[in-house]
Amino acid sequence: MRHRERIEALIAAMTIEEKAGQLNLLADPFRWLPMAVNPLDGTGDPARVTTLIREGKVGSLFNGIGAKAGREIQRVAVEESRLKIPLLFAADVVHGLSTIFPVPLAEAAAFDVELAYRTARAAAVETAASAVHQTYAPMVDVARDQRWGRNVEGGGEDVLLNNLLATARVRGFQGDKGLDDRDAVLATAKHMAGYSAAIGGVDYNTTDMSEQTLRGVFLPPFKASVDAGSLSIMSAFNDVNGIPASGNRRLLTDILRGEWGFEGFVVSDYTSEQELIAHGFAEDGRDAARLAFQAGVDVSMVSGLYMEHLPGLVQSGEVSMARLDEAVRRVLTVKAALGLFDDPYRGTDERREKAVVGSREHIALSREAGRKSIVLLKNDGDLLPLKKSGQRIALIGPFADDVDNVWGPWTIWGAPERRVSLETGFRAAMADPALLTIARGSDVETPLAGGIEAAVAAAQGADIVVLAIGESARMSGEAQSRTEIVVPAPQQALAEAIAATGKPVVVLLRNGRALALSGAVRNAPALVVSWFLGEQMGHAVADVLFGDHGPTGRLPVSFPHRSGQQPYSYDRKTTGRPADPALETQEYVSRYRETPNTALYAFGYGLTYGQATYGEVEMASAELPWAGHLEVAITVTNTGARTAEELVQLYIHDRVASLTQPGRLLKDFKRVSLRPGESKRVAFTLHPSQLGFIGADERYRVEPGLFDVWLAPHAQGGSTATFRLVGPPSVSDGR
Ligand code: NOJ
Repeated sequence: MRHRERIEALIAAMTIEEKAGQLNLLADPFRWLPMAVNPLDGTGDPARVTTLIREGKVGSLFNGIGAKAGREIQRVAVEESRLKIPLLFAADVVHGLSTIFPVPLAEAAAFDVELAYRTARAAAVETAASAVHQTYAPMVDVARDQRWGRNVEGGGEDVLLNNLLATARVRGFQGDKGLDDRDAVLATAKHMAGYSAAIGGVDYNTTDMSEQTLRGVFLPPFKASVDAGSLSIMSAFNDVNGIPASGNRRLLTDILRGEWGFEGFVVSDYTSEQELIAHGFAEDGRDAARLAFQAGVDVSMVSGLYMEHLPGLVQSGEVSMARLDEAVRRVLTVKAALGLFDDPYRGTDERREKAVVGSREHIALSREAGRKSIVLLKNDGDLLPLKKSGQRIALIGPFADDVDNVWGPWTIWGAPERRVSLETGFRAAMADPALLTIARGSDVETPLAGGIEAAVAAAQGADIVVLAIGESARMSGEAQSRTEIVVPAPQQALAEAIAATGKPVVVLLRNGRALALSGAVRNAPALVVSWFLGEQMGHAVADVLFGDHGPTGRLPVSFPHRSGQQPYSYDRKTTGRPADPALETQEYVSRYRETPNTALYAFGYGLTYGQATYGEVEMASAELPWAGHLEVAITVTNTGARTAEELVQLYIHDRVASLTQPGRLLKDFKRVSLRPGESKRVAFTLHPSQLGFIGADERYRVEPGLFDVWLAPHAQGGSTATFRLVGPPSVSDGR
């Protein structure tokens, strides 16, 4: 490391207060206004924070952007503070800075790691040009309960998909040329760990889970992020089996550093170290600072507790100077890796900022990502694609002409004027826009006076209805947990009234989570999931609905029959009494009274305008040798009249193991494009190392025996076969 000597010299020269200052992260009061001023220490106050920077009492600022102001703030640090250590600027760039891309959950539906890389790269280029060095992304919490609002920020319910997306996004943010490249930003995988396992789906709630679930489901995407080079990790708000994540030494030190070799720094979530008090884990601020710091949280976000208490804790000997130096060294090493010691401004200037922020290329990428994230669930009678001429279309619903809900949650710096409504997208796509009528029909969560009547009239005057309903941006995201994951009642009433007109209806869902559909929404002849697709949403939807591009997305989260099935994910265990989904009534099996415990639309599900038909699974042998591999293939034919872009998914089930295993688990997927009538053979290579699980000894293990394999269009279908993993003769599973 080029700057090692300089960093050691700085540490040797620093006072304890200056060391604590490097670990103090405050909200940026200069560039993210208006901001409440903290009456205790004045940290929302620009003048006060300028003084703190001069005194070396702040190491990083977050959620301020802008090249000009960024240079000025940085100038104070590198010219007016005693040791001239540059500040680190961070921001929540979750799905784009100015150019807003689809929400991460939507983008997961594209099942396209290259796309995730490209949007993260574009976001990073805009972020770096805006004088920001670090993003608080990707969120890699695996979605297991759709009531939890923050699933919208992540990669869906499957572990493999999350691992792949975490890797792609970390690489995309950090780039391929080194962190000191002027277009690179530091990635922050968050929130470690178990945040999405909140009991009941209530945000910030307690989690309680087995070691196998922790290590098998929730930790792998963090490991993937670390392996991909993420040099920052954010600790979570929740507790894990009784120990708050932000005071959890085992998670943040033993596993993260000891097992995975992480060398960056850990930052708390917004006051999460202070919240050790509310958790009942720490007595007061001093205790909370000590516990979080000793557990491995290097940087404190917003609370100011480290600045306030670390000096005293070191002086009293409760925290060693070595630990303090270690945390400071980590922060300075990352600052050096970002090139801040070579050029604290990282080459930013307003000209470059103007050239790259919201560039034409990024806007086009947003539209491409948008259309690739759309999932077609149903298309009875080939209602879609819509006709560009000769068809009267009624676009109905609260999202028909809306621009406030195209971005989705977690955007701060998007350009409002670039938001494209469905109406605008439709008009641009139609040969005769005069054939389009618009009626809102309902607000998102409240009825609209006369709305249904006007909408019914619009439907009656049309040949086809596109009903744009679902959740507003405010209904998912942080602290937006829901008890029922349904279309809000006034919109359901609108859907029923429109269905009663007898007109053909395409339901276009807007959503930040999987929804439980019912009545006229569930029974609509055509059903499209369009999430929050970002600023180009109207165009992206029109691209697919009018057939310029076929739908290619697949569900990254299962759409259940009912809300009450949550928590739900496709990779459930079989249980000792598995229900047979083919039977209507069965007693004394694992089921609900009211509904089969399957998905209405399974993980991985999605149609195209073509029709993929699967052949039989082909295997050269029914044995996979311990030190070998096995080719598993299938021929897929497009029996439809239009192109089919099929996502062939490989699932396995370990039939007998020393710990019970999921009934199906995704292990690979491949995309294949088929012209009408065309067949292609799609082959996968399975290795024994893909077939293991976290054993009772908390280690990854592979056990020989019988496996089912499916090559499938989604998690509840496909062609199946079995093979035997032939193990080394001496393997014992300890039973
Ligand atoms: C709280 C959120 O949990 C986290 O994801 C975010 O990065 C911080 N606030 C900072 O805004």
